Amino acid sequence: MRLGVLTSGGDAPGMNAAVHAVVRVAAGRGVPVIGVERGYQGLFDGRFRALTRPLPGGLAPARDIELAANLGGSLLGTARCQGFYDAEGRARAAASLREHLDALIVIGGNGSLTGAHALATEHGVTVVGIPASIDHDIGCTNTAIGVDSALNTIVDACDRISDTARSHRRAFVVEVMGRQSGYLCMAGAVAAGADAALFREQGRSEAQLVQDVAALIRRSFSGDRDKQRVLILKAEGVEIPSTKLVRLVTEALGDELGDVSIRATVLGHLVRGGNPSFLDRMVANRFAHAAVRAILDGKTDVMTAWQPPVAGGERTVDHGVSLFSIAKVLEETAALIDGSSPVTQGRVALMEAAAGVLAL
Ligand code: F6P
Repeated sequence: MRLGVLTSGGDAPGMNAAVHAVVRVAAGRGVPVIGVERGYQGLFDGRFRALTRPLPGGLAPARDIELAANLGGSLLGTARCQGFYDAEGRARAAASLREHLDALIVIGGNGSLTGAHALATEHGVTVVGIPASIDHDIGCTNTAIGVDSALNTIVDACDRISDTARSHRRAFVVEVMGRQSGYLCMAGAVAAGADAALFREQGRSEAQLVQDVAALIRRSFSGDRDKQRVLILKAEGVEIPSTKLVRLVTEALGDELGDVSIRATVLGHLVRGGNPSFLDRMVANRFAHAAVRAILDGKTDVMTAWQPPVAGGERTVDHGVSLFSIAKVLEETAALIDGSSPVTQGRVALMEAAAGVLAL
């Protein structure tokens, strides 16, 4: 058995921990592991490299993999691979894969899992997915590698911004990643003690956003309330750029603002970097363990899931990890993104209920 592993899509803190754990678990069972560099693109480019090294007593992880285990980013490199979107490209990738590997573990998000599912269904490749996406937009799992680290970074950034905001009596719009999912914005706002959260799933128009933010700022700084800072988290998926929102709100409030000013900060890719948190390292290690075991048990086209919220997953030796068919995961993911999932609806309803509390 030659086991391959790749990371694909946007990087997420904890990807290296997952690769390291895959290598450790496989090496412990005498299975050599080969890394594919730069995601699915590496299959096209023939970028394979040994991640295990033979020792007299058995196999050990390559040195750089051991050293990278605690680091953010992806040592193997990651990419969004255009060639994978057409059937001909996937056939080429599958042929290259077969030449070098017998099974593959894919660590990534929605697009990466879609690719894994296609490899399994179209070409009979043995493939197991591990969810990794800071956005928390993957179905059938309570978390994905990177979510917790990203939220810790957001909360830390909001604390820092609050320090300077309070000193100047300012309002800040802080934009966080999440093109298709507002989860980082919602969870970050609650944890940072923000005054409001603006996310795509609310479906507010530009005019409504300006009106709501202006009303919040007016209420917060005026009269008895006399707040020292207003913190508004905005998800990347809300189309109006943060600087434009700030400009329109400033214009709408005009003289009412007095000495209060409004600023925008876009956290952007800062949120994706940094060393993984405890939770992401633990989740990464346990996903990796379950994924290698699943491959050795002959499973394919499944994804590891963390304490899944829905019934129907297959239990693994780890009580916190179940296996779901990738087809089911992709269906749930689409529903999370288009808002038809009860999970998304529950999140939006909870945030609506919290809006009164956030806007105190
Ligand atoms: O990893 C997902 C994500 O963080 C999205 O929230 C964001 O829109 C996107 O990646 C940014 O990707 P890129 O690094 O290609 O700009």
